[in-house]
Amino acid sequence: MTNFLEQLPKRIRDIAESLNVLTPEEVLTTPRVKFLDTRVTSVYTLVRKCTPDDVRVLKDAAAKWLAETPLTADSLFKPLANVRWSRVSFGCPALDRCTGGGVVTRGITEICGAAGVGKTQLLLQLALCVQLPLQLGGLGKGVAYICTEDVFPARRLREMSNAMEARYPQESLNLMGNVFVEHQREIDTLINCVVNHLPRLLRQHSIGLIVIDSVGAIFRLFTDYLERARLMRRLANALISYADKYNCAVVCVNQVSSKCNGSSDDAPCLGLQWSHLGRTRMCITRVPKQHMVQDQLLTVRKLEILYSPETPNDFAEFLITAQGVVELPAKVRRL
Ligand code: GTP
Ligand code: MG
Repeated sequence: MTNFLEQLPKRIRDIAESLNVLTPEEVLTTPRVKFLDTRVTSVYTLVRKCTPDDVRVLKDAAAKWLAETPLTADSLFKPLANVRWSRVSFGCPALDRCTGGGVVTRGITEICGAAGVGKTQLLLQLALCVQLPLQLGGLGKGVAYICTEDVFPARRLREMSNAMEARYPQESLNLMGNVFVEHQREIDTLINCVVNHLPRLLRQHSIGLIVIDSVGAIFRLFTDYLERARLMRRLANALISYADKYNCAVVCVNQVSSKCNGSSDDAPCLGLQWSHLGRTRMCITRVPKQHMVQDQLLTVRKLEILYSPETPNDFAEFLITAQGVVELPAKVRRL
């Protein structure tokens, strides 16, 4: 099949190429089309021999080309229906069951919860699991981990990676080798890092998971809400585009704050504006139950899906041990 440019008269094709407007959609829809507006005189300096008639021919050809290949709703839906997004396992069967296999590589997944509830521990485990091969629930890819609050817990990650490597001795894994860490404590440097530096990392390395721990800390203290909304959109748009382009999961941590109506439930921070930018929201809470593991009394925690387009609002309980995030022993789960 000929492409759009090939079927244009040579003279018109040269004009389109010199303006770098290469597809019919670009001729009709992109900001570059401003150059093709016959009222903009700069077009004549940009392409000396371009006349208003040439522009009209180019626009007509683009419109005709698009009109000749009508799209039905069915043809638009089919590719989408066939797409199967990848998932990054939590490395904990109970959490994988309730989330349909882990964190999906589509849009932003938010994990919120109170201080010390286990958000970072869960993310460290995801950072290890994404490196596992496909048959073990990973993507065989690395992780970009951006900390905005505390120093990255490298020692704890080492402890968990040793435990995971010991779990799969036949795989000869090196799970500390594909973790790229950044510390960004201010909004400007965070945006700069995500918008300008992260794309380079994504191009040069195979990255399956981007983590921001946490967005709550960065945006919480803003008083100019319009500016905050603008920056949150900018950050989210960049992250969503990376998820699409590189088929990677994006997880942002958020904090919670007490509701002012006196209810005992905590609400995720950053309001409606942020909640509309995420695709999936999960919340971790402590359950008033404890469980003894290797002579240690551990608090039971719960991961609950608050919303997700493809999974029901399920929940699962887990523990944090020296090895990482694990499900409750079978006999306890049956109680
Ligand atoms: P904030 O970052 O303060 O919002 O908290 P968080 O939700 O990220 O908490 P974090 O993931 O740091 O988890 C805190 C809990 O994980 C602690 O209460 C401990 O129970 C457990 N934990 C943290 N570090 C370790 C560790 O090195 N070993 C073990 N066994 N448990 C740990
Ligand atoms: Mg944390």
